[in-house]
Amino acid sequence: MTFPVDLLALLLRTSKLAALTGAGVSQESGLRTFRDAQNGLWAQYRPEDLASPQAFARDPKLVWDWYAWRREAVKAVRPNPGHYALVEIEKRVPYFTLITQNVDGLHRMAGSQNVLELHGNIQRVRCAECALPAETWGDDTESVPTCAACGGLLRPDVVWFGEALPRDQLEAAVEAARACQVFFSIGTSGVVQPAASLAYAARNRGAVLVEVNLDPTPLTPKADFFLQGKSGEILPELVRAVWG
Ligand code: APR
Repeated sequence: MTFPVDLLALLLRTSKLAALTGAGVSQESGLRTFRDAQNGLWAQYRPEDLASPQAFARDPKLVWDWYAWRREAVKAVRPNPGHYALVEIEKRVPYFTLITQNVDGLHRMAGSQNVLELHGNIQRVRCAECALPAETWGDDTESVPTCAACGGLLRPDVVWFGEALPRDQLEAAVEAARACQVFFSIGTSGVVQPAASLAYAARNRGAVLVEVNLDPTPLTPKADFFLQGKSGEILPELVRAVWG
């Protein structure tokens, strides 16, 4: 891909950079994006119908099993060149904040250090009642495991539809968006709030907006640069073009 020269020159002198990533960054690792149709046993369900407190209250076992299936799916995949390119950017840009909506943990697995997990992490489990994190739990496939401290049901430590995001992560993300000179929106459809508003928070403070996506999104008309294609290809090429 050939990049606009002004983008390359800008990035070379940028010291404060923030990036928001979505499921598209993990797609090339073999993980379906959030709005991709599900497959196999789960094809009959929409993620939105499983990732909610109501779904968990209605059928905790179904929701627990879906996340157990997703945990196994994540264990089977590895970060892709897009994840590693973001690790390289973090090494080269003095102030780089990686904000992700992904719960797969692949950014940390690739080596990113300063990661804000807005929607939690699927590998972490906590008690639905007392919120105590659970490091281990029973493998009884007939029932949802319970908290060793209070007996409450265990649940994945992710943000479900209708739930508040972790305040500390969100506040740090807003601060990074407002402070950055360049904001990347990568592999996200930009439709879920409050993550989707971060790009606008950055732009309103004068940041240059760069979007990397297979297809245009509602954000694209506002982006200063729209790099269309796979993040696993574009990001490594961009790192080579800017930082050599
Ligand atoms: N490279 C770049 N972009 C890609 C790639 C790729 N290889 N593959 C897919 N995309 C883009 C799609 O075009 C789409 O715009 O990634 C985006 C994925 O969008 P969604 O599936 O909506 O995922 P995401 O934006 O992360 O969803 C945000 O919504 O449902 C909630 O909590 C859930 O974190 C999720 C949030």
